[in-house]
Amino acid sequence: MAWGGWGGGGGMFGGGVATGLPFGGIPSELMPEATKLLAKEPPHPPSAINFTQRPSAKERERLTLPKLLRVYPGYVTSGSLLVIVISLVMQVGPLLTEFAINNGMGGTREPLGGHRSLTIIAVCALLYLASAFVSVFLQRMQVDVTGRLSSRVMHDLRIRVFTHFQRLSLDFFTDEKTGVLMSRMTSDVENLQQLIQDGISSFALQGLTMVVITIVLFSLNVTLATWTILLIVPLLFVISIWFHRASERGYLLVRDRIANVLADLSESLYGIRVVTANNRQRRNIRNHRHVVGAYRDSNLYTGRVNSIYGPATIMIGILGQGLLLGIGGHMYLHHQLSLGALAAFFLYLNRFFSPIQLLVQQYTALQQGRSSIIRLRELVETPPTVDEVEDAATLPTIEGRITFEHVSFGYVPGQLVLHDINLEIAPGESVAFVGPTGAGKSTMAKLANRFYDPTEGRVLLDGVDIRTVTLHSLRSQLGVVPQEAFLFAGSIRTNLSFGRTQITNEEIEEAVDVVGLRDLVDRLPDGLDTVVHERGQTLAAGERQLLALARAFLARPRVLILDEATSSLDLRSETVIERALDRLLEGRSAILIAHRLTTAQRADRIVVIDQGGIVEMGTPSELLKAGGAYAAMYNAWLASGGRDVSGA
Ligand SMILES: Nc1ncnc2c1ncn2[C@@H]1O[C@H](COP(=O)(O)OP(=O)(O)OP(=O)(O)O)[C@@H](O)[C@H]1O
Ligand SMILES: [Mg+2]
Repeated sequence: MAWGGWGGGGGMFGGGVATGLPFGGIPSELMPEATKLLAKEPPHPPSAINFTQRPSAKERERLTLPKLLRVYPGYVTSGSLLVIVISLVMQVGPLLTEFAINNGMGGTREPLGGHRSLTIIAVCALLYLASAFVSVFLQRMQVDVTGRLSSRVMHDLRIRVFTHFQRLSLDFFTDEKTGVLMSRMTSDVENLQQLIQDGISSFALQGLTMVVITIVLFSLNVTLATWTILLIVPLLFVISIWFHRASERGYLLVRDRIANVLADLSESLYGIRVVTANNRQRRNIRNHRHVVGAYRDSNLYTGRVNSIYGPATIMIGILGQGLLLGIGGHMYLHHQLSLGALAAFFLYLNRFFSPIQLLVQQYTALQQGRSSIIRLRELVETPPTVDEVEDAATLPTIEGRITFEHVSFGYVPGQLVLHDINLEIAPGESVAFVGPTGAGKSTMAKLANRFYDPTEGRVLLDGVDIRTVTLHSLRSQLGVVPQEAFLFAGSIRTNLSFGRTQITNEEIEEAVDVVGLRDLVDRLPDGLDTVVHERGQTLAAGERQLLALARAFLARPRVLILDEATSSLDLRSETVIERALDRLLEGRSAILIAHRLTTAQRADRIVVIDQGGIVEMGTPSELLKAGGAYAAMYNAWLASGGRDVSGA
C-alpha cells in the first residue's frame, strides 16, 4: 500500500532529476518541503552503480556478521574500547562508598572506632558523582558509535540483498512468496540492526560487568564473595535457564502467529473484490478471528513468562540481601569484614542482578539476529538459475533471426511443457503463435528472452546461443510486452520511458499517437503527468495494454515479443491497434501471441502450438487453404462473431 502514496512531479525520469526515489518520485504535496531540504544538503557526488549480472569477488564473499562489521574498523574498535571502559567506570561507585565508610565514617573493623573525616567523605561523594557523569557520557558516545555502525552496516546489507534480487531469475520470484521476501528486508534486516546497535554491545557490557563485579567482590572479601556466589548464582542460573527456554518458545510462537495474521490480512485486502463479490465477509472475519486469537494467546503466554521471571529474580535478590545481612553482619562482629566492605557488597549485589536479567533477554535478540543472518545468507547465496557464463560476450546489434533448436522445457523437473521445438524466425519476419490455453505459447516467449533456459536444445539469436551472451546485451535488443501489463506507481510519462534512459518529449508524444493513446492522455487531468497508482489499478486493462505497447515502441528493440498484448482491447480500437502494430513491427522480427485471430492474420507466418509442440506452420492463407487445425480455429472464431480478415 505504501507505494500508492508516491506520485506527483519530480519523478526519477519524469522530472529529469535523479532523486533516487522509487519510480514515482516525491509526492507533490511534499515537494516544497523536499526542495527546501535538498537546498540545505551538501552536494552529493553522483553514486557510481556498477551492476553486473555476475557478482564481483567482494559480493561473492560469505555473508557473516564479522565480515559486515570489518568494513568499519574505526567504529568497531572505538565501540569495543568504550564498552570496556564503561564496564570499569560503572563499578567505581561502590568502591568509593566502601572507602568513605571505612576511612571517613570510622567503619573499620573496631565497631565505631576508626578514623573520621568529612573531607574524605566529601571527596568520595564528588568522585562518585564524577564517575557517574563520566559513565553516562561514555555510554552516550558508545550508543552513538554503535548507532552509526549499525546504520551503515544495514545500508550495505540492504543494498547487497536488493542487488541480489535484481540478479535472480524469474522462477525464484514465482516460487517465493513476495511477503516472505519482504520480511527478509524488513524484520530480518531490522533484527540484525537491533543486534548491532544494542545486542552485541550490551551483551559484552553486561558480561564484562559481571566479570568485573565478581573480581571486585573476591578482592574485597573472599569468604563473603564465595558465600554470595554459591547461594545466589545457582538459583539465578536455574530460573534463567527456564526463562530462556520458555521465552524462546514464546518468541517462536509469536513470530509464527503474527506471520499468519499478516498473511491473512494481506490476502483479504488484495482479494477484497473477490471477497465482497462472493459474500465471504463473515467467513473471512471468522477466519481472521481465529488467527488473531491465536496471536493473542501467544502474547498472553510470553506475558505470563515475563511476569514470573521478573519478580522471581527480584525475590532471589531480596533473599541474597537477607543472607548477606546475616552472614556479613556475623563476619563484621567477628572482625572479619569492615563496615564499608559490607556496604559495597550490598551495592554490588544489586548490580549483579540486572546484567543477568539483561543477558538472558539479550540472548534471545542474539539468537534472532543469528537466525536472521542465516536466512539472509541463504538468500544471497541462492544462485540465479538463468545466469551469465564466466566470459559472456556482448551480443552485437542483431538482425533478428530467432532460432529454436530442438528445444524442450519444463518448469518442474520431469514435467515437460514444450517438446522438441524447432522453429526459425527470419530477420524482419513476424510470427504469430496461436493455440489453446496452456499450450505453451507464453513459455516459448519466455525462452526467447531467457527468462528461463531450455531443459534441452538451444535458442539462438542471429546464430548465437543466447546463453553465451550477457543478459544486458541480450535484453536490450528484445522488447517484451507481457500478458499482464504492469505499471509502476508514477506518472504515465515515467512509465513510458521505463525501458530507456534518454527519451525526448517528442518521442513520447509520437509513441502516444502511434498506439492510439491520444484520447486517453487528453482526457486525463494532467495529461502525460497524470499519476497512475499502484499497478495501474486506476486504468482500464486495455489502457494498460496500450501503455505497455507504447513502452515497447519507445524502447526500440530489434526483436519484439507481444504476449496477448491486444487481448483486452475493444473492437473499436482494433483498427487503431492494427495500425500501431504495423508501425511497431516495421523492420523488426516479432513473436505475436494472440487468441484474437485478426492479429494473427497480420503476421507473416502462423505457428499453431498445442500441448507443447508445433502442430502446424505456414502463412495465414496457406494454413486456411490446408484446412487443418488453424482453419478450424479460424472458422470457430468467425462463427463466434470474429471479423473476417482472411481476404477470401
Ligand atoms: N511458473 C510456472 N510453473 C509451473 N508451470 C507453469 C508455470 N507457468 C506456466 N506453467 C504451465 O505451463 C503450461 C504452458 O503455459 P503457458 O503460459 O505457456 O500457456 P499459454 O499457451 O501461454 O496459455 P494462454 O493462452 O492461456 O496464455 C501450462 O500448463 C501452465 O500451467
Ligand atoms: Mg500465455
